[in-house]
Amino acid sequence: AHQWRGVIAEYREHLPFADSDTLLTLGEGGTPLVHAPTLSAAVGAEVHIKVEGMNPTGSFKDRGMVSAMSRAVSDGAQTVVCASTGNTSASAAAYATRAGIGCAVLLPQGKIAAGKLAQAIVHGAQLIAVDGNFDDCLEIARKLDAQFPVELVNSVNPYRLQGQKTAAFEVCDALGTAPDIHILPVGNAGNISAYWMGYREYRDKGITASTPAMWGFQAAGAAPFVAGRPIPDPETIATAIRIGAPASWDLAVAARDDSGGVIEAVTDEQILQAQAMLAGEVGIFVEPASAAGVAGLLLKAGRGEVPTGATIAITVTGNGLKDIDTALSQRDLTPTLIEADVNAAAEVLGLAAL
Ligand code: F0G
Repeated sequence: AHQWRGVIAEYREHLPFADSDTLLTLGEGGTPLVHAPTLSAAVGAEVHIKVEGMNPTGSFKDRGMVSAMSRAVSDGAQTVVCASTGNTSASAAAYATRAGIGCAVLLPQGKIAAGKLAQAIVHGAQLIAVDGNFDDCLEIARKLDAQFPVELVNSVNPYRLQGQKTAAFEVCDALGTAPDIHILPVGNAGNISAYWMGYREYRDKGITASTPAMWGFQAAGAAPFVAGRPIPDPETIATAIRIGAPASWDLAVAARDDSGGVIEAVTDEQILQAQAMLAGEVGIFVEPASAAGVAGLLLKAGRGEVPTGATIAITVTGNGLKDIDTALSQRDLTPTLIEADVNAAAEVLGLAAL
């Protein structure tokens, strides 16, 4: 019987590990690429959704974290550190547990979804809340790495992008070809850079014949690539991408330009509408930031900018269960209360007896 062995074992020949390295796994990667007929019909293309919320800690971060953590533990690190809007910290905490080493996480005070905070806590990370935003947290994390005996596992660690590039391999392996367009949300800009690296490597090795155009979408209140410069006070309901000074700036600009792609902005309202559409019409519950790509696709389709019949892959980056507060904030939460009786249930449902 076959079981998916995690991204390092599955893509070993494409990753920079030695036989002597300690290679970890929690079974990350191998996530489904789900064809979305309703979304395809809505935009006049073939849309496939890469469901990264299916990873062990519920986001794409696990691909890069297993790689960065394997490097860290192989090099004898005792403690890893990261800045995070939530998902990186959840993933780092889980993989540090697996590696048997310590984990410290720097989090922007009051801006982390409850589910992500819970993950960092239950996996035993040391939490530090910073009176500042993600960009402030990352600056502290970089300085800790430079001046103290800790290993940085943010995406400025090259092993993070090495692991994350495997998602592009999986998309190509599932489609049997590279898509025409790959769409994803952009925050600190590691993921768009990693996908572009993965797509190029598969093309350069002759496994695929082409590379997709990379379409990135930021939240309008946190869109430094759209502004063309860092944003001092990023603000968005999509807290995962509430970032004003992305670390992988040059790599993301290269991904955009070399692929013939774009990085554009979507409003919080468009993000929430796309989240609701994914949940209510496609059947996939994602966190707000994860819906930015779908919001962007719908925006481009409305402008007539989606090529008819194109094969499109969209990454939805994180599981909706991580942030139920935002998802439920505009919903009616009260179910109809009945006595424990079948006829009372049938009455609520408006059903007549057979
Ligand atoms: N989607 C989700 C759910 C994320 O958590 C992130 C980043 C992104 C998209 C953007 O990816 O940074 O590679 O451009 N979250 C980081 C964190 C910043 O700390 O969890 P990116």
